[in-house]
Amino acid sequence: MATLEEPLEIGGVTVPNRLYRAPVLECAGNGPDAVDALIEELEPTAASGVGLVCQGATIVRGEGGCAAPGMTRVHDPAFVSRLSRLTDRIHDHGSKIFAQLEYGGLRSMETWHAEYRRNHPDLEQLAVSDLPWQLRLLDRVGFLSYDPHVLSTDEVYELAADFGRSAAYCVEAGYDGIHLAGANMGIVQQFLSPFYNRRDDEFGGSPEARLEFLALVHDEIRDRAGDVPLMTKVPAETEAPPSPIVQRKLSLEDGVEIARRLEKIGYDAVVPVQASVAWDMSIVRGEYPDRAWDLEDLQDDYETVFGGPLRKRLVAVGNWLESLVYDFDPAWNESFCRRVREQVSIPVLAEGGIRERGQMDRLLGDGDADPACDAVGMARPFYAEPRLGARLLEADDETRVICESCNNCVVPQVTGEPGICRTPDVLRERGKLEQDGAYERE
Ligand SMILES: Cc1cc2nc3c(=O)[nH]c(=O)nc-3n(C[C@H](O)[C@H](O)[C@H](O)COP(=O)(O)O)c2cc1C
Ligand code: SF4
Repeated sequence: MATLEEPLEIGGVTVPNRLYRAPVLECAGNGPDAVDALIEELEPTAASGVGLVCQGATIVRGEGGCAAPGMTRVHDPAFVSRLSRLTDRIHDHGSKIFAQLEYGGLRSMETWHAEYRRNHPDLEQLAVSDLPWQLRLLDRVGFLSYDPHVLSTDEVYELAADFGRSAAYCVEAGYDGIHLAGANMGIVQQFLSPFYNRRDDEFGGSPEARLEFLALVHDEIRDRAGDVPLMTKVPAETEAPPSPIVQRKLSLEDGVEIARRLEKIGYDAVVPVQASVAWDMSIVRGEYPDRAWDLEDLQDDYETVFGGPLRKRLVAVGNWLESLVYDFDPAWNESFCRRVREQVSIPVLAEGGIRERGQMDRLLGDGDADPACDAVGMARPFYAEPRLGARLLEADDETRVICESCNNCVVPQVTGEPGICRTPDVLRERGKLEQDGAYERE
């Protein structure tokens, strides 16, 4: 069994311990202050001792494909080179930083953000195949708006090359590894998923063919960025609506098989994540964020974003229903990670509802059971406590994070607000911990 404090090797790079910050939106964009904003958000986490900082998803193209406002794009080498200031600052603390690459496809602002659509009337969403009937229905009733452009075979090759080019720019800027956003309903998952992928060229038609896009992205990254550590999230669509609403989806066994094949292709680590086919709360299980929906100063912005008061209300009701289905579940990806780890020899990283030091030790193999994973990560708890590493490393079993998984930080981000903790009790608790010196390291 490994302890949280022990180093971990990923693709030849040694991460100093097994605690990582999972990718979450920094909303830093690409403006003149982007690098400073990223430093401000990510450096405290490295300074607190966290071994690996996974930056939130960045977009491999200059147009479209952003899931939310403020995502940083990494298609432009001049901009990406400026990020060396960030990677240097992370390295100053002995931590490693991975860039996560993404393109939204059908999960883009083009489908849900009314104002963005108005301002970009010519943008189409890149799609792996024609829309499944479920999404056509959502379009017909006006809940989402789709104008998909199905990628030709040549265009799939071009998109994979963009992942390779962006990876090369990131490595040049000092990133220690590349992470792919493979399980947050973006284009990578859309290639993997039988729900979305109905192609009849070399990228569809069988489970092996649906993996071809990730094989091609791997080759493009290796060709352009060299032997950089490469990992990806791996989805199992176990949380998708049941049959007959959704019949074609990735089972847990499919997810395990994808991870097994990714190791053969040459991926250096995997992050198994139970997900849905829809963009819902399955990957951020927790409470209905009533406080966020009620924020006085954001009401007009919500209406602008969702296209009027009625649609805003509909989205909020949808959010409430999802919170009933996707209630918080401690370490909800544990069994998937365990199944994957039995089948692969590359590191398996676990995240999703991990909140206590004792639980982290158990996941890493303390106790009777075999380890479920080789590293443990958290996302929302770092919004609540950017310097969380200082409290969790070398800590006793009972130490737990103060984040309540209430999701009040998530909803305001649709308006371009930064990802910050917005729950007063939690902020007060952080203040007390700060006063007590809990985030200081020797
Ligand atoms: C606001 C927000 C943004 C996220 N952005 C990303 C992302 O860019 N890429 C990704 O792979 N996962 C993303 N996630 C998912 C997290 O990485 C993580 O898997 C999820 O929040 C569960 O972990 P937690 O319970 O510790 O928050 C995001 C989650 C949240 C709450
Ligand atoms: S608002 Fe704060 S407590 Fe709630 S999920 Fe976000 S970080 Fe955690």
